[in-house]
Amino acid sequence: MSDSTPRVIQIFDTTLRDGEQSPGASMNLAEKLEVAQALSDLGVDVMEAGFPIASPGDFEAVREIATSIRGPIICGLARCNDGDIDRAWEALQKAQRARIHVFLATSAIHREFKLRMTQDQIVERAVSGVKRALSYCDDIEFSAEDAARTEIDFLCRVVEAAIDAGATTINVPDTVGYTTPIEMAARIKALLDRVPNIDKAILSCHCHDDLGLAVANSLAAVAAGARQIECTINGIGERAGNCSLEEVVMAMRTRSDFYSTSTGIKSERLVPTSRLVSKITGMDVQRNKAIVGRNAFAHEAGIHQDGMLKDRSTYEIMRPEDVGFSKTDLVLGKHSGRAALADRARELGYRLTGEQLQALFDQFKILADKKKNIFDGDVAALIQQQISGAAVPGWSLVAYELASGSGQAPSVKLTLSMEGKNSTEHVQQGDGPIDAAFWAVEKITGIKLTCQEFRVSSASLGRDAIGEVTVEVEHEGQSYRGMGASTDSVEATILAILNSVNRIITEKSLRTANKVSPQDA
Ligand code: KIV
Ligand code: ZN
Repeated sequence: MSDSTPRVIQIFDTTLRDGEQSPGASMNLAEKLEVAQALSDLGVDVMEAGFPIASPGDFEAVREIATSIRGPIICGLARCNDGDIDRAWEALQKAQRARIHVFLATSAIHREFKLRMTQDQIVERAVSGVKRALSYCDDIEFSAEDAARTEIDFLCRVVEAAIDAGATTINVPDTVGYTTPIEMAARIKALLDRVPNIDKAILSCHCHDDLGLAVANSLAAVAAGARQIECTINGIGERAGNCSLEEVVMAMRTRSDFYSTSTGIKSERLVPTSRLVSKITGMDVQRNKAIVGRNAFAHEAGIHQDGMLKDRSTYEIMRPEDVGFSKTDLVLGKHSGRAALADRARELGYRLTGEQLQALFDQFKILADKKKNIFDGDVAALIQQQISGAAVPGWSLVAYELASGSGQAPSVKLTLSMEGKNSTEHVQQGDGPIDAAFWAVEKITGIKLTCQEFRVSSASLGRDAIGEVTVEVEHEGQSYRGMGASTDSVEATILAILNSVNRIITEKSLRTANKVSPQDA
């Protein structure tokens, strides 16, 4: 390869695994499938679909994604033990291209306090894990968990042994977000210089953002020779999150003069994918977030605006349309047809089935009777409501009446039905309408809820915009999310509470005693 040919960097997306581990971001099957399709449309090379041994829900999601998504490599995570690896393969086997990702901690801190294993035992376990995975498929990634804090001599030894055993990708995680760009580059360089069989594997980096350095560290790894970056949409993930896909990709693209790299990412899908993940996980994107934040391309200062009018390049290093900000918020209305709606949904990052589109169209028509102009945000809210509701069948709202006013205790009369049958009615007073709604839902469903967070936002422009309510509730020590959307904000609140109750019911029926997370490994 000549110096002028860009090096191709593989984008390994772990939104559905590490991203989903961020508090409050858990997704159900329908939501994961929606995100998986969007990631495939975005052009990621590898999609880590989950950690199959962690729970039946994780297993099911990896299996469904492996069965239905074509294009990217579908990857499943496993610790270095037979049970995890066998389960991962069980979930992955229908994939067009499957990867088993085995991991084992290598740092002294983890060896001593978590695993209580010697260096020799770690090498032996890593080798046997890679070999077991290799008995199922030939694309094997080995991660040396906490690699950034591992003694470099020992890291080189483990990596060499894992490659000898058949690992085709070696991942260098900065599990606790501790390293710095110079150190990360030195670590990658040391591995490239000192591991004799390193040419038989692709070196990868996986950086967490505890010090706000995940993107910088990943770029440093690439500059030093890494060929894969592990990242998530909007940088979601454990604690402060992971390397943000949109930032790292656009940094390499915008500064291709410096990095001389390319990726297969369709950059104009970045904003729609970011919005979709934000809506599905209920995790807002900060306004000033690089690349995908609402203000990322807003020029406020007069001097900047003047410069922009003279020549955009004075203050603009990327064009908004390159990352998928549409120039206009196309307005739909009463007379818009199904095709225009389907087109809008696609633009917004959703791939709807015929049945979903019909249900959306029905709701769209009802909305169009209430509201003259329907904006992108309204359409996204309707779709989201449908996805999150359809994914968790259970209690639904039949009707509500609210009595409230100055000097009178608010009261809600609520009628709910279970799976469309057996309507139950309850009248409840509360400190305010929201409080009364929570109490009434608890009384009818028998599910106790502690409200941890309550957010209302407007989905689009105008006083008649759809209101989106997100609640985070605690039930038996676990957090659950709920979302509701309506032009009536009390109704949106009740829908959000019901959505969280239905998630609790679904999760309870799926849960098994032995749910584990990588941090338990
Ligand atoms: O951060 C980490 O070390 C991980 C591994 C499982 C790759 O997520
Ligand atoms: Zn991680």
